Amino acid sequence: MANRKIIAVVGATGAQGGGLARAIQADKSGQFTVRAITRNPNSEKAQALKAAGAELVAADLDKLETLSKAFAGAYGAFLLTNFWEHFSPERELAQARNMAHAAKAAGVQHVIWSTLEDTRKWVPLHDDRMPTLQGKYKVPHFDAKGEADGIFRDLGVPTTFLLTAFYWENLIYFGSGPQRGPDGGLVITFPMGDKPLSSIAVEDIGKAAYAIFKRGREFIGKTVAIAGEHLTGKQMADALTRALGQEVRYNDVPPEVFRGFGFPGADDLGNMFQFKRDFNDYFVGARDLAFTRSLNPELLTFEKWLAVHAQQIPIPAGV
Ligand SMILES: NC(=O)c1ccc[n+]([C@@H]2O[C@H](COP(=O)([O-])OP(=O)(O)OC[C@H]3O[C@@H](n4cnc5c(N)ncnc54)[C@H](OP(=O)(O)O)[C@@H]3O)[C@@H](O)[C@H]2O)c1
Repeated sequence: MANRKIIAVVGATGAQGGGLARAIQADKSGQFTVRAITRNPNSEKAQALKAAGAELVAADLDKLETLSKAFAGAYGAFLLTNFWEHFSPERELAQARNMAHAAKAAGVQHVIWSTLEDTRKWVPLHDDRMPTLQGKYKVPHFDAKGEADGIFRDLGVPTTFLLTAFYWENLIYFGSGPQRGPDGGLVITFPMGDKPLSSIAVEDIGKAAYAIFKRGREFIGKTVAIAGEHLTGKQMADALTRALGQEVRYNDVPPEVFRGFGFPGADDLGNMFQFKRDFNDYFVGARDLAFTRSLNPELLTFEKWLAVHAQQIPIPAGV
């Protein structure tokens, strides 16, 4: 349909943006069409989006001059940054600034900015319950996103601020799945004590974003927080035990132990989990499940996600 409104999707070849692109493309009677923004239109994922009907536009968030054609004529834009590609909060801020300026210049009517909390509002830099990282952050991959909210506000970009949650896909792709403990048994390790972790199937982030676009101006200027479930480590381990058919236990460790695990980003993630543990009432309270389900009635539970994805979770061989 020629008169469909264009949604420019940053990260369309990735997890969050891919979910939104698929949600828009699945709705054949819908009012929107996908423009996938990618650095590499020849990639397999970009070509798959094209085959499903998306327009492809090559652009790079690091290069402001490439973004004008990304947003030209677009009604909406879904915007994210990928911290884990470079581990630099400053680069995330610069990319967010580029996108905000380009969206403003193009007259985009509705931006959804995939953001997270600036944890320094809860844990100021002088608070030594967790170390300051990279000079001026507590949770670098959260703080820069939250700080960037102000860029969209200051420029007057009509923005919905979307607070997301821990993807269950991290169990498959991000090293968060079961590992062998000292006794050879399977454990999942989070420094969350007995507090619940707000988590979600990443595809449901895209579906929620689609619903936000469909609801017009309702959420512009507002912060919208989503999750699929709030699960303790023990609840996650019990669900994994049932889905995998072998026992998985929850291994609670202090945040300082997690920070010392030594993999890239362990300190950032240790601080993140500590923030989610120590400010649990806020974090969980903000992400209302009934509200999330009202946006996306197909919202998966962990159990339902596992029924489809459990076999993709890498399980280390026993000794
Ligand atoms: N893992 C979690 O539990 C979780 C939870 C909440 C939030 N997050 C946040 O989610 C973000 C990552 O999103 P994701 O998981 O959807 O990413 P992803 O699956 O790793 O994909 C990254 C996407 O970003 C695009 N991209 C990256 N740099 C770009 C650039 N310079 N110019 C244009 N496009 C660029 C890539 O496009 P091309 O490669 O095609 O150019 C790709 O589509 C991170 O910042 C992370 O902090 C993660």
